[in-house]
Amino acid sequence: MDIIYHGHSCFEIRGQKESLIIDPFITGNPQAKIGVKDIRVNYVLITHGHGDHVGDALDIAKRNDATIVAPYELATYMGWKGAKVHPMHIGGSRQFSIGRIKLTQAFHGSSDVNDAENKIVYMGMPCGYLITMEGKTVYHAGDTALFGDMRLIGELNSIDAAFLPIGDNFTMGPEDALLAAKWLRAKLVIPMHFNTFRIIEQNPEEFVLKLRKEGISGEIVSSGEKLTL
Ligand code: NI
Ligand code: MN
Repeated sequence: MDIIYHGHSCFEIRGQKESLIIDPFITGNPQAKIGVKDIRVNYVLITHGHGDHVGDALDIAKRNDATIVAPYELATYMGWKGAKVHPMHIGGSRQFSIGRIKLTQAFHGSSDVNDAENKIVYMGMPCGYLITMEGKTVYHAGDTALFGDMRLIGELNSIDAAFLPIGDNFTMGPEDALLAAKWLRAKLVIPMHFNTFRIIEQNPEEFVLKLRKEGISGEIVSSGEKLTL
């Protein structure tokens, strides 16, 4: 499979026949190098309702006739806006045409914040994703704090690549992400959710160096870059 990073928490995964995108924050994402119109996917996975994760999900799903996979409340909300949706929830997994998708817990919020109207719509629990396709398993942690059951996720799954937030402030910072990496025992760790905005500025090189000191391989993928697993 090919993994293409579009900055922030947005990853595209291309298999031999089908592809998916996770947290497609393209419009307004200063790191994104792709146009929404150039994205061809069969599935759109969203970890939670915040704008920097839902992003262009609706537009992309409609253009591609793709299915949005998200926690129940968020999926329902996207369905009301006219998208084809498949609701799931934490701990649940399902075999889709592209592969097996399982929702993992994440410690964070999930809401649609409408600044213009001072209105917040809550969307239940945020999540992470375990995606198994073509013999490989990828873990996208979503926006989350460090939690002890990442050990369990590591024990129960043989993770080929883990995407972990390192931005701090809203999610794990680099130190907690280092612990997460150890517990998950992933073959490769890719940092995400950093340097998009000033408040989540981090030094990814330092993070990857620390990973290597622990015997974990880490790689910084720049926006637009493709990595083959
Ligand atoms: Ni968030
Ligand atoms: Mn976020």
